[in-house]
Amino acid sequence: MILNRPSLINFGSMGSSELGYISVAEGNKLFPFQIKRVYWTYFTPQNVIRGRHAHRRLEQIIFAISGVIDCETEMIDGQIVRFRLDEPNMGLFLPINCWHEMKFSHAAVLMCLASMEYDETDYIRDYSEFKKVRENEN
Ligand code: TYD
Repeated sequence: MILNRPSLINFGSMGSSELGYISVAEGNKLFPFQIKRVYWTYFTPQNVIRGRHAHRRLEQIIFAISGVIDCETEMIDGQIVRFRLDEPNMGLFLPINCWHEMKFSHAAVLMCLASMEYDETDYIRDYSEFKKVRENEN
């Protein structure tokens, strides 16, 4: 599976309203990469914007395991797409060179499946540097 744009992936859910539900990320079914790291963020105040960076090589899939997460993405060609994550079975794939900013509802929990271990040198944290990537790619 090759994805080069931010896109929603439906992982499906098994169960019922009586029992509750399970969603599964398994092997490379539905998956554009091998998972090397899982992290999660929580207790994010509602007035905080997280993210505000892009990655040079890291690919990620983020989920709102609980609550609502609004994510604005911008690709190096300038295309901006906004996503609302409000279902635990829906993952948002973030490709390389994708600037993203996220806002969280009260008690929202974000889980991320990542293609690489943490590496600060992989981050582009300066928006003007991100825009230079765009110039270099065009
Ligand atoms: P960052 O990715 O900037 O968080 P967000 O995009 O949600 O605002 O990470 C915040 C801090 O946490 C950063 O200083 C580095 C640290 N961190 C790790 O040490 N390991 C990790 O896997 C992650 C995701 C972050």
